[in-house]
Amino acid sequence: MSRVALVTGGSRGIGAAISTALKDAGYHVAATYAGNDEAAAKFTESTGIKTYKWDVADYDASKAGIAKVEADLGPIEVVVANAGITRDAPFHKMTPDQWHEVINTNLTGVFNTIHPIWPGMRERKFGRVVVISSINGQKGQFAQVNYAATKAGDLGIVKSLAQEGARAGITANAICPGYIATDMVMAVPEKVRESIIAQIPAGRLGEPEDIARAVVFLAADDSSFINGSTITANGAQYLT
Ligand SMILES: NC(=O)c1ccc[n+]([C@@H]2O[C@H](COP(=O)([O-])OP(=O)(O)OC[C@H]3O[C@@H](n4cnc5c(N)ncnc54)[C@H](OP(=O)(O)O)[C@@H]3O)[C@@H](O)[C@H]2O)c1
Repeated sequence: MSRVALVTGGSRGIGAAISTALKDAGYHVAATYAGNDEAAAKFTESTGIKTYKWDVADYDASKAGIAKVEADLGPIEVVVANAGITRDAPFHKMTPDQWHEVINTNLTGVFNTIHPIWPGMRERKFGRVVVISSINGQKGQFAQVNYAATKAGDLGIVKSLAQEGARAGITANAICPGYIATDMVMAVPEKVRESIIAQIPAGRLGEPEDIARAVVFLAADDSSFINGSTITANGAQYLT
């Protein structure tokens, strides 16, 4: 039996690697994206994975999108809340818009993604929830008060959901990637990137596949006792 997996922001970067790894592991995968139609079309063409467009910050759009995925593929049993953005600025320069955009996408977006799927998981007595947090939710980061707040919030979400879902066969876990070579990190000036790499004992940025393998592990049926945990994948940059 193939289970159905939904990956938000699953058309690019870490999400694309997660979608592909889940497909390779035998899941029926739906990947979502926000607006980059070209990247999504390319991704579908090269992987055969269907993509769906909606804004995770919009509850009604998320609910409708999820209903469409379930009508197409069947009940979602694995959900990976991966979509995320940065709007960096030192706190004294951070605008309310920068704050709200990141909170609405990265934190409320996680609620909007999991909430419509949760009742079905409870009814069917099976579910796997994986939230992609960040090293910067664990340690904080200069110019990322907004982003770090959302990523620390993710850890509170999975720890609470784990306790609520355990009796219903649902697990909820977080993964905290370190710096991974995606568009998000490659957009950082090269000098800054070099200084980041200098802080990583592994001596390199992570690859999206380094995160995808942890998702496949958490999604497995026999990972049922791993619940409420945080997996750190950062090349030993920050150890909690
Ligand atoms: N890269 C890193 O070093 C790193 C480290 C720690 C944690 N993370 C986390 O890992 C996750 C993925 O990061 P990434 O580097 O792979 O990002 P990315 O390369 O920028 O890709 C982001 C993906 O999310 C989608 N997305 C963005 N805003 C959305 C919205 N409002 N609604 C729906 N989809 C949306 C994008 O869609 P479009 O293609 O349409 O734009 C894209 O598919 C994020 O949560 C990020 O915070 C990343």
